[in-house]
Amino acid sequence: MTNTKYRILIISDKSANIHSLTSLLSHEKFQVINTDKAIEAMEILKKRNIDIIIVDITIRDSDGYTFCKTIKEHPKYKKIPVLMLVNLTSPEERIKSFTMKADGVIFKPFNEKEVNAIIENFAEIKRNNELLYSNMENIGTIIEHTEQAIEKFNPFQFDFYKHIDNLISHLVRHISEVEDKPAMAIVGFSDTGKNWESYHYKYVFGELNRYKLNFDFSSFFELPKEGETAKFFLNRVDFEKDEYRKIEEKLNSFRILVRNMVGFLSHHLCLLALNYNRQVNEYDAKLLNILVNQCLFFRTIAKQTQRLEETSSYAIYCLARASEANDEDPKKHIFRIGEYSAFIAKKLGLDEKFIRRIKTQSALHDVGKIYIPSHILKKQTPLTEEEWNIVKKHPIYGGQIIGNHPLFSIAKNIALTHHERWDGTGYPKGLLKEEIPIEGRIVALADVYDTLRIDRPYRKGFDHKSAVEIITKGDGRTMPSHFDPKILDIFRKNEHYFEEIFDKMKN
Ligand SMILES: [Fe+2]
Ligand SMILES: [Fe+2]
Repeated sequence: MTNTKYRILIISDKSANIHSLTSLLSHEKFQVINTDKAIEAMEILKKRNIDIIIVDITIRDSDGYTFCKTIKEHPKYKKIPVLMLVNLTSPEERIKSFTMKADGVIFKPFNEKEVNAIIENFAEIKRNNELLYSNMENIGTIIEHTEQAIEKFNPFQFDFYKHIDNLISHLVRHISEVEDKPAMAIVGFSDTGKNWESYHYKYVFGELNRYKLNFDFSSFFELPKEGETAKFFLNRVDFEKDEYRKIEEKLNSFRILVRNMVGFLSHHLCLLALNYNRQVNEYDAKLLNILVNQCLFFRTIAKQTQRLEETSSYAIYCLARASEANDEDPKKHIFRIGEYSAFIAKKLGLDEKFIRRIKTQSALHDVGKIYIPSHILKKQTPLTEEEWNIVKKHPIYGGQIIGNHPLFSIAKNIALTHHERWDGTGYPKGLLKEEIPIEGRIVALADVYDTLRIDRPYRKGFDHKSAVEIITKGDGRTMPSHFDPKILDIFRKNEHYFEEIFDKMKN
């Protein structure tokens, strides 16, 4: 607003009043528009952006008090200051004006200095109100975006580009009347601070459109150093300066006309918000800065969480490999078990967190074997009953090793129950059906399939077809009744997938 004249609408049925006020206020700060009818005044308000209304007590098709009340109750116009023209000698007129919610009064006969001072004061109020409403809008944008970002945030499926799309969808205006949002945005990504990959975003018929744009940020802006960020705002007058002219020319070459610009710059991400329906200011730059930093914050959290998960998986596999040291060489048995188990869990409709955990934590199913003497595990001939009783303790040992950390409850349940059977003939407890946790039932089938496929000290591995036959029809030792029927059904319908995994991760 700083470079624009304030528009004052005067409504009066007395041409003398209109003339006096127009001559008093027609200078560089104000532009005066007048009418003698309320109905015409409403039309003007619809078409033009009016900053202050001055209304006389008498107007041709209504009265000033009613008009004032109408404006002050109007959802769109109530923020415009209304001043009533009253007689200096009539306290009743003054009191009634305020009763009808007028923001102020101007006394007749007019005093030039007083009128100018009052209008300037209200112009200032209008300017502050605009700033206030604009900031409230901005805060609304931040809250809306943050709420959605938190709700949708999943560090394991975090997509930075989608996150930026979501930010732009809140930042850019959907409809042209909105003042406090930019009409479009340009976003650039770079790994090195050079060779920027840029996109132009704009709503077209209510849909956010994204076009690739050949705009290299490093050619037009002095980018901050690695790890630092910068923000700025430019209004129309700033583009007259040499330093910004070439940015405008470049954007014009894409048929983008620039009225104003708010920007965020960094070494790897730049964002320009263009063409607000008003002058832009430092608050707009701050808002953009907050929003972009929020995206970067989410990205950092996602990266750190993913790294933590990787670290945890790495530690799990180290422990699992340590436990295998005593056993015969099962190659990638633990990784394949994770793949089959995650597949079954997905088919069962279990949630994403469970699927992720069973995939890694199932690697610890035989961790208890670390306590079983190597000569028993590697024995080439059938085990004696005594030896077999020792082997059957490995689930209990596994449970003890994993302990009670809630994040490893799936690993513990798997270690304890992967040899339990649906029909109650398993060990160590002989649990029946749903007494066995779902993770134990899943790994039970995955483990049997994979163990059948690999070479054991006392036999060669079975081919896929024979392994399927044994699991689905039984061979006396392994029986279909050992498995949860739902899981067995998934296996039967998708057995080719198990074969694919085995072949893909054989060595
Ligand atoms: Fe086992
Ligand atoms: Fe196993």
